[in-house]
Amino acid sequence: MKHLLKMLDLTSQDITDILNLADQLKYEQKHGISHRVLEGKTLGMIFEKASTRTRVSFEVGMYQLGGLPIFLSANDLQIGRGEPVQDTARVLSRYLDGIMIRTFKQSEVESLAENGSIPIINGLTDFAHPCQVLADLMTIREYKGSLDGLKMCFIGDGNNMMNSLIVGCLKMKMEVAVACPSGYKPNAAVLDFAVAHPAFSITTDPLEAAKGADVVITDVWASMGQEQEAQKRREAFQGFQINDAVMAAAKPDAIVQHCLPAHRGEEITTEVFEQHAAQIFDEAENRLHAQKAVLVKLLGKK
Ligand code: CP
Ligand code: NVA
Repeated sequence: MKHLLKMLDLTSQDITDILNLADQLKYEQKHGISHRVLEGKTLGMIFEKASTRTRVSFEVGMYQLGGLPIFLSANDLQIGRGEPVQDTARVLSRYLDGIMIRTFKQSEVESLAENGSIPIINGLTDFAHPCQVLADLMTIREYKGSLDGLKMCFIGDGNNMMNSLIVGCLKMKMEVAVACPSGYKPNAAVLDFAVAHPAFSITTDPLEAAKGADVVITDVWASMGQEQEAQKRREAFQGFQINDAVMAAAKPDAIVQHCLPAHRGEEITTEVFEQHAAQIFDEAENRLHAQKAVLVKLLGKK
């Protein structure tokens, strides 16, 4: 594993290795066992979109590992004034040991990886959010003991989260059922991958998708960059909500995950959100541990 660009690139073994290391790093951090294995290493963090969790968890994670994180707002970089990503990659490769980037196009992240010579981590694009999905899988495994055979249901938009969860969960031998309005399906490459798996199903009926689910997941109806479509999407997504009816269709001990930020009253009701808040905030915490595992794998001694 040289980069973390999208879940499609990872093997099941890569994912298991990251989750195991994440569990170990979490244990060490909770028990005050120092693990400064990235001493002397520097991570550049390029943000072309807003962030609370990704920025803070990467920054704190690098610090806890003994390395230096550098926050780079795209507004302040020459990239924001049109310097090509190929040149940016070649320059930053001379200074840094790794780059985390949050941007719009997946092709920009892939281009950084092709043109640079250091590990690239996708901190969210319109297509994928692999860091979040690794934290989700870590959380599900914590709550359920193992992933194999569990049913994950995602209700909502065929966005970066749905794309990445479909691939990540199928790779971990989970059953995957997604419900989305017909105009808001997941990415075609993801669907191509998914339909080869008998454990995958897609429907426009949230209750059908939720039936017998062990994990119920959703995300915002309008992602970053889609603000102008918010009203149209609010209409299209009516009914695609995690609410009491959906939770009644799922298993009685089903957990709920939400990458956050959440819009209560849209993709999830306040009641369901608050009933499952411990699981959702454990998921947010696990961003730190899962990403530290990714950093150690990519930037640490081979
Ligand atoms: N879930 C997530 O990636 O959160 P931020 O947008 O706050 O980084
Ligand atoms: N789908 C959301 C996820 C935010 C973490 C977005 O892209 O805005």
